Amino acid sequence: MSQKSLQDRFGRTIEYLRLSITDQCDLRCFYCMPRGFSDYELPEHWLTEEEIERVVGAFTRLGTRRVRITGGEPLVRRGIDDIASRLAALPGLEDLSLSTNAVRLARHARSLHEAGVRRINVSLDTLRPERFREITGGKLSKVLDGLQAAREAGFSPVKINMVVMRGVNDDEVEAMVAFCMEMGFTLRFIETMPVGDTGRRAQDHFMPLDDIRRRLEQRFDLTPGLMPGGGPARYLRVAGSDLNIGFITPMSQHFCDTCNRVRLGVDGTLHLCLGQSHSVPLRPLLRAGASDTELEGEIRRAIELKPERHEFNERPEQVVRFMSMTGG
Ligand code: GTP
Ligand code: 5AD
Ligand code: SF4
Repeated sequence: MSQKSLQDRFGRTIEYLRLSITDQCDLRCFYCMPRGFSDYELPEHWLTEEEIERVVGAFTRLGTRRVRITGGEPLVRRGIDDIASRLAALPGLEDLSLSTNAVRLARHARSLHEAGVRRINVSLDTLRPERFREITGGKLSKVLDGLQAAREAGFSPVKINMVVMRGVNDDEVEAMVAFCMEMGFTLRFIETMPVGDTGRRAQDHFMPLDDIRRRLEQRFDLTPGLMPGGGPARYLRVAGSDLNIGFITPMSQHFCDTCNRVRLGVDGTLHLCLGQSHSVPLRPLLRAGASDTELEGEIRRAIELKPERHEFNERPEQVVRFMSMTGG
């Protein structure tokens, strides 16, 4: 009988798996993926639906309670609804969520909800169509349609992820607060991380979120808040409203000592930290016909390699992957 919890060397319990089901994306946010990029993982290296179900099944037997489906952009993978249904049916899984750019969400919202996804996080850095095109290369109206569909399909909560960048979109913080209040969404601000060359270049626009908090405090009464979820955001609530604002501060105040997650790439590579290259390939084992016990053993050994923390500030030059390979 396997022991029902994964502990790393630093006493952290790993119970949240971020599962990337594709490294492809239909946007090109300048801080994430280079504009002309198309050097994607080969389809024969993608874990199949059965393989995904098997690996995540092993994780849930080892105590994983939360799975977040990510990309690239997860909605570009065919069979996303089937993948979600398979995961939702796994015994022990309590929280199935998705992070998306919402470009294709209008088409998928209802079926994803029916498949068992309950929480959705959507990347949205601006409410201005022209600026949206500059940041992402895409069309804002599709995202807004996707958000409307998510609301109608019954997702709760819907969280908006805004990477706040000085001189790019920091003048829209108040507009985003008003938008989220009106729509009943949760708003989260994110500090730009030096992940990949793209993320490193974007550090020119880095802005500590303390500046934003102080700015908002001049306009609003902010009290401690709380939201369902297992991620690193710390929440403040706008008094007199239902709006929770989350602050994700990997740079100015890292949260590695409470890290509870690992990431599985589309090719079956287990990445042990967003900011480090420690990884273990699980695909060879799966394709060599390993037993469940062997698979669980390999996952346990991999967790031993999880590093203590990122070194974005000390060694910003060292991260090799693009963010799109692990979906954040
Ligand atoms: P909830 O369960 O809703 O709390 O999800 P989440 O915030 O963990 O997921 P989401 O995909 O919305 O991530 C939001 C942002 O937080 C992204 O920019 C991620 O890159 C960042 N983030 C999530 N987990 C980590 C982490 O372990 N380390 C760092 N440095 N950043 C993270
Ligand atoms: N720094 C911070 N956040 C990033 N994301 C992508 N690249 C970066 C980066 N370099 C965000 C996306 C999305 C989330 C999953 O990751 O905007 O909201
Ligand atoms: Fe966890 Fe690494 Fe993120 Fe720190 S940077 S919270 S250790 S994944």
